[in-house]
Amino acid sequence: MKALITAGGHGTRLRPITHTQNKHLIPIANKPILNYALEYVKEAGIRQVGIITNKDSSEVSRVYGDGRRMGLSITYIPQESPSGLADCVRIAEPFLGTEPFVFYLGDNIIVGGIKRFINEFNSNKSNCHLVLAKVPDPERFGVPEIKDNRIIRIDEKPKKPRSDYAVTGIYIYDSSIFKAVNSIKPSARGELEISDAHQYLIDKGLTITYSEITGWWKDTGKPNDLLEANRLVLDNISTKIIGHADKNSQISGRVIIEKGCEIQNSNIRGPVIIGAGTKIINAYIGPYTSIERNCTIKDSEIEYSIVSEDCEITDQKIRIEASLLGKGVKITEAKLKPFTNRFIIGDQSIVEIR
Ligand code: G1P
Repeated sequence: MKALITAGGHGTRLRPITHTQNKHLIPIANKPILNYALEYVKEAGIRQVGIITNKDSSEVSRVYGDGRRMGLSITYIPQESPSGLADCVRIAEPFLGTEPFVFYLGDNIIVGGIKRFINEFNSNKSNCHLVLAKVPDPERFGVPEIKDNRIIRIDEKPKKPRSDYAVTGIYIYDSSIFKAVNSIKPSARGELEISDAHQYLIDKGLTITYSEITGWWKDTGKPNDLLEANRLVLDNISTKIIGHADKNSQISGRVIIEKGCEIQNSNIRGPVIIGAGTKIINAYIGPYTSIERNCTIKDSEIEYSIVSEDCEITDQKIRIEASLLGKGVKITEAKLKPFTNRFIIGDQSIVEIR
């Protein structure tokens, strides 16, 4: 079995971070989001992976190369324009061939991996196996209508959802999906919708089965989703302290402190991960915080946040919370009079101050 993973798109709801970085490379617990998809497919025994990328962008391939480092063989499949998920499947047919495959949206994070869904697909001899999750806002997703334990219809982002389930971004198909993605027409927003391909399979009477996720699943489309995904992943870490903490520091809960970290006179309350070479001085790092490598946090407090590499946070009087910092961000105290706030920030940044 092969896997097809999406890693393109523009991540508009995650601007400004996505002005300079592909959304799939944003760190969750100090690993790019896409790592999780790759780990899940590997854990399911899959080695050959196709990754859909934006045309003319080598950002993802620069990070993962041919996949050997992760024990995978990766083929990059550039998509001409963002023409929809069904288009991703359509252009990947030469790579996928006639064997069943997993289609995984690279911005989805799920607890427990995907092996169980592949087993369901195999034991039910399905043409298409979908993974559903109960959500409070189904209108944001593909929504199934279910009758007598069978999916009888699927609508993409319906105004009036026919159930409170979302079709998550984990799909397993046999080769009948290619007929579907080559037969459907673009939707009103000009995309080949994966939900329309599913509806095509339903209309043709093919076997569509489903599993329900009872644990945790997140489509990391918005900043709050990223913070929640980060919380979930940190909730499952085990303590590993390699860096150095001095005797005035207090470390509690589950924490990962990587090589070359220096913690001085600080309180770290896990779950927290701190990347290599980061310095934490006279600071409080509260639960569900991920700090990447080579940052400095000094005379400040932060919790429930994601801090990318090379950031500096110093002399903050008010605790920073629920924040998402891109690479090389500086938050510091104005030393010169007049007593003002000063901002040098890129397009579409969000600043909330007290
Ligand atoms: C896409 C699909 C939608 C699915 C969702 C899951 O939506 O079109 O059917 O429920 O992924 O993550 P998008 O994230 O592109 O809005």
